[in-house]
Order: sequence, then C-alpha cells, then structure tokens
Amino acid sequence: MHGVELTESKNILVVGGGNMGRALVGGWLGNGHAPARIHVVDPSDDARAAMATLGVTASAELAEMPDAVDLVMLAVKPQQLENVVPAYRTLCQHGPVVLSIAAGKRIGFFERILGADVALVRAMPNTPAAIGQGMTVLTANARVSAQQRSLCESLMRAVGDVAWLDDENLMDAVTAVSGSGPAYVFLLIECLTDAAVAVGLDRKLARQLAERTVAGAGAYAESSEANAGELRRQVTSPGGTTEAALDILMSEDGLPALLRRAVAAANERSRELA
Ligand SMILES: NC(=O)c1ccc[n+]([C@@H]2O[C@H](COP(=O)([O-])OP(=O)(O)OC[C@H]3O[C@@H](n4cnc5c(N)ncnc54)[C@H](OP(=O)(O)O)[C@@H]3O)[C@@H](O)[C@H]2O)c1
Repeated sequence: MHGVELTESKNILVVGGGNMGRALVGGWLGNGHAPARIHVVDPSDDARAAMATLGVTASAELAEMPDAVDLVMLAVKPQQLENVVPAYRTLCQHGPVVLSIAAGKRIGFFERILGADVALVRAMPNTPAAIGQGMTVLTANARVSAQQRSLCESLMRAVGDVAWLDDENLMDAVTAVSGSGPAYVFLLIECLTDAAVAVGLDRKLARQLAERTVAGAGAYAESSEANAGELRRQVTSPGGTTEAALDILMSEDGLPALLRRAVAAANERSRELA
C-alpha cells in the first residue's frame, strides 16, 4: 500500500482513460484511493465503460467536471495534446498541479498553452506500469510545491518505482533507457526463444524458458545486494558453458557495444522529437 495517506483525500482529474490512464487509476484504487475522488474525461465510449467497471465516473467532456481539483493528469497521446490541453487552461489556473505522462512533451510545451505560472510535473512511465511493475521518472517546474511533488510521486508509485530528475534535459536519456527499454528486453526474449528452438527445444518450452529466465534474473538482480556484473561473474565458471556464451556476447562488437549504440540512438531521437 503506497501513498494512501497522501492521495486518498485528493480530487484527481484524469484526461485520457486509455491504457495508461486505466493502469494508473487501477493502481490508485488498489492503494485505497476513493473512486468518488477520481474523475476521468475521455470521448471514447470503450474507455468510459472500462472506467465504469472500476467504479470511477467518466465523462465525455470537461463541462461535466467537478470544480475542486487537486491534480490534473494528462494521459492522452502526445499528438492529441495540442488540441486537448487548451480546454483545461482555466481549470489549471485555479491551483491544481498538472501531471503529464505524455512521452517526449516538454514542460515548456505545457507552459506555453496553460501559462507559465501553472505547477507542472512531467513523468515518463513505462509499459510494465500496466502490471504495477513500472519505472517512472519525474521532473517538475519551479511552481510545484513540496506537497504537490509528494502527491505526484505517490500516484506514480502506485504503478511501480519512482525517481526524480532536476534537469529536464536528461528525460531524453530516461526515455532511451527505461521508456524504450521494455522493447529491448522483449527483443532479448524473442532472440533467446529463437536461439532455444535452434538448439532443439520446441517453441512452447523455448518461450517459457526465455520469459522465466529474463523475469527471474531481473527479479534476482533487483533483490540482490550484489550488482549485475558481480552476479554474472558468480555464475560464470572458467571454461564452462556460460563463459562460452559470454565470450561471444561480450566480444568487441557484442552486446555492450550494441546497447551503447542503441541507447545513444534512442537518446538522439528523443531530442530530435522534442
Ligand atoms: N502505454 C505506455 O506504455 C506508455 C508509456 C509511457 C508513456 N505513455 C504516455 O501515456 C499517454 C497515454 O498513452 P496510452 O497508451 O494510454 O494511450 P491510449 O490508450 O490511446 O489512451 C489515450 C486516451 O485518450 C483519449 N482521448 C482522445 N482525445 C481526448 C480528449 N479530448 N479528452 C480526453 N481523452 C481523450 C483516447 O480516446 P480515443 O482512443 O478515442 O482517441 C484514449 O482513450 C501517452 O501520452 C503516452 O506517451 C504511455
């Protein structure tokens, strides 16, 4: 139970009740947040119906909104923001903190639309938030109070781990690591599955071995005092099977070099898109 004390009395407006909006609302309710204090705006019938099954009121338009809102979470697609955000200008100038989870949209973008005096927090969550295993990095403008920071942190903690950055420019690096990172791990699972089939295992077992190995090793690394390098060395006997594989993976143009290039490319692309 994360953050119940801080969030349960707060009125939250969620703009966009899609995949991420739903995951977050589900996490808050799981943490004891009262459904009556959450309101969702989404024009999609399906999104509103899904919210209704969670016991949360959802409306198609802002007009049906309650007055006193402590936090406005923007959870629409980045390309929808330009059209969606202006409708919230008046509401946002009455004190709520605005929490955007839109990938790549900088704080300055929201300040231009909502006004520079609005308290703004930008968050970068990742896909495993859908099962409460996300990693979210947050950054705030100078208008955000300590209480508002705590509120945003508690809300994002409902779907995983949280960290703060002072320098918003580093959000591109975050995007390149934890934002896009789940796709790198999915690729690892795909490749390990295919490699398992290539050495004779049937695809069903190959997939099970690959998924469990990645999930189990990740959980083990996270729970261990030792860092990943130490854990790797612990399971690598000289002349053994693991060493035979690592000699290839860690060759000059192997995994370390590949990942460095991949993350640098994502970082660069994130900067271009911003
Ligand atoms: N999914 C992830 O893993 C992930 C990770 C990091 C960040 N994010 C960020 O989270 C945000 C939401 O992503 P998502 O995957 O949840 O997208 P999504 O499933 O498409 O959800 C967005 C929802 O917003 C609705 N919408 C459209 N116009 C609206 C309006 N005027 N007012 C209120 N709602 C409106 C959409 O309805 P329609 O479908 O009818 O358009 C849709 O239901 C994005 O900005 C994304 O960058 C997502």
